[in-house]
Amino acid sequence: PLAATGTLVGAAAARQGAVAAFNVITLEHIEAVVAGAETADAPVILQISENAVRYRYGRLLPLARAAVAVAEKAGVDVALHLDHVQSDDLLRQAADAGFSSVMYDAAHLPYDENLAATRAAADWGHAHGLWVEAELGEVGGKDGAAPLDAHAPGARTDPREARAYVSDSGVDALAVAIGSSHAMTTRTAALDHDLLKRLAEGLGELGVPLVLHGSSGVPDAELAAAVRGGIAKVNVGTALNIAMTGAIREFLGAHPDAVDSRKYLTVGREAMARTVGAFIAVLRG
Ligand code: G3H
Ligand code: ZN
Repeated sequence: PLAATGTLVGAAAARQGAVAAFNVITLEHIEAVVAGAETADAPVILQISENAVRYRYGRLLPLARAAVAVAEKAGVDVALHLDHVQSDDLLRQAADAGFSSVMYDAAHLPYDENLAATRAAADWGHAHGLWVEAELGEVGGKDGAAPLDAHAPGARTDPREARAYVSDSGVDALAVAIGSSHAMTTRTAALDHDLLKRLAEGLGELGVPLVLHGSSGVPDAELAAAVRGGIAKVNVGTALNIAMTGAIREFLGAHPDAVDSRKYLTVGREAMARTVGAFIAVLRG
């Protein structure tokens, strides 16, 4: 059934685990995520990013309605999350489209502007029943941008700033930059576990869960350690596309005369579902 992101993340944090949040682009992604979660018998978050909306000719509703329909019939709890939102117009469509949460992305702005924009988004979101995630310290690699230098100051979240940012903005969850990067196609990212520890300790009594972005590039052991260190929501996108595209490429190589799209979409969907199950197994806690 359809569930709320805040409930799923809160429950994961309470048992020192994490809930996996997968970025979906097509109906096959949605079906694969839910099938993988059902096989694992675990709750899951389906997230649609502003980039994915752009790909769908700028329309949120077609994919959102598909996600709601699949979630409602799912055998596990499934929450809908609007990811990396920069447009206020898109933010304002979230609640009506069935989302229980949004990630408002102002991480590219200087601190004061990020705080002001995020506080306004959090106020609006809370007035409309949304759980609001925001980001401080930029996780690189979005929109095909080159990953930030791992040692550049902007690439890391400062623990003292994080505490002030969370209490002044009123957000419900914080995405932190601790060494992961978006759109990695190898699982070679090394996380700064000492920084994660300081972030978790610093935010302690504020009770705000931490979120890891760019998790496709993070090895299993690093992910498990991050969950033990306080990460309660793990965002995975690229890994699904690697699985889908690889399976389809292999199928079409072996069947060069295939024309029925269902034939190769089926193997793509199955490969994504296996990847979903593999990530969930690492994050259970
Ligand atoms: O918000 C989405 C995630 O951060 C996904 O990142 O595609 O590198 O796994 P990824
Ligand atoms: Zn992200």
